[in-house]
Amino acid sequence: MAEITWELFQSQVEACAQCGLCRGIRHKVPGQGDPHAPLMFIGEGPGQVEDEQGLAFVGPAGQLLTRMLAAIGLPRERVYICNVVKCRPPQNRVPTPEEAQACLIHLRTQTYLVRPRVIVLLGSTAARNLLDPEIRITRQRGQWTERKGVWMMPTYHPSALLRDPEKKRDAWTDMQRLRDKLIELGLYGDLYGAEAPDQKSIST
Ligand code: URA
Repeated sequence: MAEITWELFQSQVEACAQCGLCRGIRHKVPGQGDPHAPLMFIGEGPGQVEDEQGLAFVGPAGQLLTRMLAAIGLPRERVYICNVVKCRPPQNRVPTPEEAQACLIHLRTQTYLVRPRVIVLLGSTAARNLLDPEIRITRQRGQWTERKGVWMMPTYHPSALLRDPEKKRDAWTDMQRLRDKLIELGLYGDLYGAEAPDQKSIST
């Protein structure tokens, strides 16, 4: 069996046609960030700006995610960010379970390569495909689950926060839980050299 490398991962995503989503896209969006980050964020799928640039979370939701990270002192380039599906669903619809299932092989490969200690699941699609198919994000957000030494927490997707700013208060609580978990695992100060968090930056 060929050794799994980032080059192999990139070429497998580029060549993938396991579902119909790749028809009509401009770019595949594999994900990006620190290839050995202890902290990984997983969203749903690329939007229009991501499809244009081939980069995950660079549109309005991505800009909010960057501010949420900054609010707990984490520079975005120190984390790894990707999505359940690597191709933009038409009209930004939710990927079907079949599409998500077909793409999970790529997510498994990149999780294997990054080996994160902590994973934040952004929104229902990520939480349902990686944690619990029945999960209700409004009820179960902010709760930690440990699987094979990896800590996972679902929270609201940044797009949901843009649609409904009232959710930002809960999202801020979840970011504090994330910071606390990183501190507990000895990852916060050491790896990020983080400053004290500032709630203002999440509410803007
Ligand atoms: N929404 C997502 O789920 N992922 C992106 O990359 C952008 C928006």
